[in-house]
Amino acid sequence: MALKDKLLVFLANSPDTLYSGEMLAARFQVTRAAVWKAVRQLQDEGFEIGVSGGKGYSFSGRNDFLQDTLIHEYAGNASFPLHVLDTVDSTNNEARRMVLNGAADGTYIAANSQTAGRGRSGKSFYSPANTGLYVSYIMRTGESVEQLQKLTMAAAVAVCRALRECTDCDPKIKWVNDIYLGRRKVAGILTEAITDFETMRTDAVIIGIGINCRTREFPEELQEIAGSLNDPALSRNKLAGRLYTHLVKCIAERNDPEILEAYREASFLPGRKISFLHNNKTLQGTAVSVNDRGGLQIVLDTGEEMTVSSGEVSILSWDQ
Ligand code: BTN
Repeated sequence: MALKDKLLVFLANSPDTLYSGEMLAARFQVTRAAVWKAVRQLQDEGFEIGVSGGKGYSFSGRNDFLQDTLIHEYAGNASFPLHVLDTVDSTNNEARRMVLNGAADGTYIAANSQTAGRGRSGKSFYSPANTGLYVSYIMRTGESVEQLQKLTMAAAVAVCRALRECTDCDPKIKWVNDIYLGRRKVAGILTEAITDFETMRTDAVIIGIGINCRTREFPEELQEIAGSLNDPALSRNKLAGRLYTHLVKCIAERNDPEILEAYREASFLPGRKISFLHNNKTLQGTAVSVNDRGGLQIVLDTGEEMTVSSGEVSILSWDQ
């Protein structure tokens, strides 16, 4: 790793902290002039690094733009194909284009903003610049379409673990793919399969995740539902890197009972009054639990029991 990258990783770990040139030179076993040169290179790349004459250097907490060196570092220096984009239509669209061009298993795409971010059921996903994290993970797999639910659930567990690691928050899952903080949705997951029409086999699965990190203003239609992490100390690079690590692990373990258990533990629907659409009719009931195949078990107000395997559920009452 070049000195400037080592310095970046070190300084970014503790923003707004002053380190003397002498200390940095000793740490990286280079001269103070080499440290100064590396700082200048980072400043030329756009990083805000304060230089206080004689005292040292401090990395501004405002430097939270996505950077491949930092994402790799936070992902434990694992080697994987990573594409960091300033803006893109949708990271899932980009992932699809990459799959068609032969992208490898484990390819990760992270964007600072999306112009046409997509959510489930044809909805859009609000993706403004600098305040959110929008990523897609490519899995080359012949997974059957029925298995996609398990992948979404594994991804939800990975998002919760990454959020717990990078913030003080306690995220919860709203079956099947929404992540909530309190009563607000802060993240969503869109899992899509690419199928080869000749063989009718799945060629790849794309897991897209959008997290509102510090988005404060939402379009009117989202104002009652959407929220944001709003942790001033949060580093989007750290979140992107840790999320990658957790995704790889949770995906590998998606058939283990621990993942289902972790999903159930974080799920907040069980015990709550809900409504949902079934065969064009709105039904009401109480969510009971998530079954082994990822379906939501519900007791309808009529006393009838049923299990839904997909679809959108609305919360009628937050009280349990
Ligand atoms: C949902 O809440 O319905 C799912 C939202 C998924 C949004 C993410 S952002 C990264 C990836 N690219 C997209 O266009 N969508 C997903």
